[in-house]
Amino acid sequence: MDHLKKQAAQAAMVELDIAASKLDASEILQIGLGTGSTARHFVDLLGEKVASGFKCICVPTSNETAAQAKALNINLTDLDTIDRLHITIDGTDEIGPDMSLIKGGGGALLREKIVAAASDKMVVIADEGKRVDHLGAFALPVEVNVFGLKATKTAIGVVMQKFNARPEFDTKPEMSLRMDQNGKPFMTDGAHFVIDACFGRILDARGISSALLEVPGVVQHGLFLDICQTAYLAGPQGVSKLTA
Ligand code: A5P
Repeated sequence: MDHLKKQAAQAAMVELDIAASKLDASEILQIGLGTGSTARHFVDLLGEKVASGFKCICVPTSNETAAQAKALNINLTDLDTIDRLHITIDGTDEIGPDMSLIKGGGGALLREKIVAAASDKMVVIADEGKRVDHLGAFALPVEVNVFGLKATKTAIGVVMQKFNARPEFDTKPEMSLRMDQNGKPFMTDGAHFVIDACFGRILDARGISSALLEVPGVVQHGLFLDICQTAYLAGPQGVSKLTA
């Protein structure tokens, strides 16, 4: 699978040249860098491009990506220094037919969504296995405040009931607090917890999105709707490009 992730990342490199070709001579390309095993390949390739003279400045979506990019001498900044990005390249956990996504398997969903929303274009890179007819086989990551966890879980449970969360795709209509390798609650870079909510087949992504965002303890969720414009998906037959 890893070679497919690398192929998708390689194919998406062309997007940088396209975006750079639209800039004025005085501008340099401002890139959002995703998180995860597929985005890691992209950052490696970008590091090689930078080493051969390519000029860009990047905003990472996680401490992990920031460390990788820094080690590759990629110039980094943040969204307080610049307010827009020309392009963001990131992985995904699922991609539906309308380019809707579930993200957050690596726990970076909040920064990923902030960065993607601040970008003129979001490009997803993934192996073909991430492509689904309906979102929901992958449990929806919901980033929540540490304070009031029990009340927040109860409120998320009400949302799951309202949207008929039920076992499909071998998932159960249940939620779990994500744990780290040491058996402690997983902490995001923003010091929040993550609840993985198994909605089963998601039929009303917009409704679920709105309802979750109305829960006071919910910081953000991993449904990315109307954000991704282009995807490069690598399979055994090659890389296919999807556009919204
Ligand atoms: C990180 O929080 C996620 O959104 C990742 O982008 C997503 O989980 C894809 O990760 P992989 O590329 O490792 O599958």
